[in-house]
Amino acid sequence: MTVLDHPLVGVLVTELRDERTPVERFREVVEQLGRLLAYEALREVRVREKAVRTPVAGATGTRLAASPTVVCILRAGAGLTPGVLSLIPGARMGHLGMARDEATLEPRTYYDKLPPDVADGPVLLCDPMLATGGSAVAAVELLAGRGCRDVTFLGVIAAPEGVKRLTEAHPEVPLVLAALDERLDGRGYIVPGLGDAGDRIFGT
Ligand code: PRP
Ligand code: URA
Repeated sequence: MTVLDHPLVGVLVTELRDERTPVERFREVVEQLGRLLAYEALREVRVREKAVRTPVAGATGTRLAASPTVVCILRAGAGLTPGVLSLIPGARMGHLGMARDEATLEPRTYYDKLPPDVADGPVLLCDPMLATGGSAVAAVELLAGRGCRDVTFLGVIAAPEGVKRLTEAHPEVPLVLAALDERLDGRGYIVPGLGDAGDRIFGT
């Protein structure tokens, strides 16, 4: 697990936590964090050589060996993905619609649309919140069922309970986070967290 260790990430996460942050700024900050999380998550991505000409000479540069797929867990993951795509604009996108049942806290999958060749390259699975871990585990298992073997989870805030559930179920999935919080409350919300990420991104 990697928790981004940078003062500016701390400043951005603090803005998200603040209940006075308006929806337009909340969205902007989630997008910025998506970019920073993707930057870190792709640190070890495989590259190939690429020859280019500068105005001065030939140069050997790099290109990604395989195009990553960005997979968004709806709704709140849609706040992160514009930032992720800003670094890898050619990436394909998949969507998984998941909603937590408020009583059982278990996720219900109501939609999935993935590129047919999603298993051919790395997958960046995006959801700002990892609470009980139920949604992330269900998403990883759906992706595994489509053959995906190289999945990285990108999240803004995680609870220790969610980290434990995801890493015990899928130790092969690296986690890249902006903050690791204290615990869950009785309703399954992350403490201190930021509240309901989907509601704050979409103003619902
Ligand atoms: C939130 C969040 C995660 C999930 C995390 O989504 O975006 O998907 O809860 O909780 P878990 O780790 O306990 O599964 P929610 O189900 O509220 O749907 P929304 O994004 O549509 O608001
Ligand atoms: N989902 C959220 O959006 N926030 C939490 O704290 C837990 C689950």
